Amino acid sequence: MTLAITPLHPCLGARVDGVVLARPVDDQTFRQIFDAFQEYSVLVFSDQRLTDDLQMAFTRRFGPLETTLSSIGQERRLHENMVDLSNIDPDHDDRLMGWDDRRMVYQSGNQLWHTDSSFKPVPAMASLLSGREVPPSGGETEFVSMRYAYANLPGETRRQLEGKVCVHSILYSRSTIAKGLFNPEHERELPPVRQALVRANPVNGRKNFYIGSHAWYVEGMPYDESRRLLDSLLKVTTEPDRVFQHRWRQWDLVMWDNRTVLHRGRPWDATRSKRVMRRTTLAGEGPTADPPLATRTPVWDGIVPAGV
Ligand code: OGA
Ligand code: MN
Repeated sequence: MTLAITPLHPCLGARVDGVVLARPVDDQTFRQIFDAFQEYSVLVFSDQRLTDDLQMAFTRRFGPLETTLSSIGQERRLHENMVDLSNIDPDHDDRLMGWDDRRMVYQSGNQLWHTDSSFKPVPAMASLLSGREVPPSGGETEFVSMRYAYANLPGETRRQLEGKVCVHSILYSRSTIAKGLFNPEHERELPPVRQALVRANPVNGRKNFYIGSHAWYVEGMPYDESRRLLDSLLKVTTEPDRVFQHRWRQWDLVMWDNRTVLHRGRPWDATRSKRVMRRTTLAGEGPTADPPLATRTPVWDGIVPAGV
């Protein structure tokens, strides 16, 4: 079988044809996929009829899996390494949930530009999302490259970012969409974490800044100034001509590099169409900043961290 890799966008993304991921992937083919992943940051595979077990097995070829956060109203129905993104309500005869349902409000956080698990002390390396049931329109996933944006910053801005640490928090990002999504126990389990603002890919050395919806403030800068910096970096990263949009077909598998890519889901008519996606997440290799936990206690009502 010969593998074909076709770029999909000038900034990032490639399709990969000629491999059946439900069968064992030989070492040489795996190596080509691994290299394409480092180079293109987003890989699209079509017609991959994966079960949860097969999806986990393919993901494990790259390294250990991350355990998921059991999110609002989703008691574990799946394996602890599977994330279930679905608008089907199993408690009410598989009725479709609309955007007013609390579980969907929580999921709508995925519509903010983000990188998976940047709020954890060891952020995720990659995510693999399988489209099990997809809506006829809407519900696309969009990707942008923080590496491309970094490479196109003025040299002076790049120097300004070097060595800085950004504090990330899912309580912060979710507070921007709704109040009270987490209960106090959840909150205690989710302390703010420190992430390097500039990261390099260990395989090819290429650098990027590392931001997204969980990025809250940059240490050592006045809060408002650090918000302006983070907002301006997000703006250049997500210029319309830098966005690669993936329109889902059933059984697509899309893999992205969370170290360097931001992504977001787009809305769809959730009361009419099912959208069932399953995600596996490849664990990161370690913390990006030392120490990984932020020491200051945040003040949630004003969103402004204490003492900044
Ligand atoms: C995710 C995610 C967006 C989508 O799976 O991590 O953000 O389009 N998904 O479902
Ligand atoms: Mn995500």
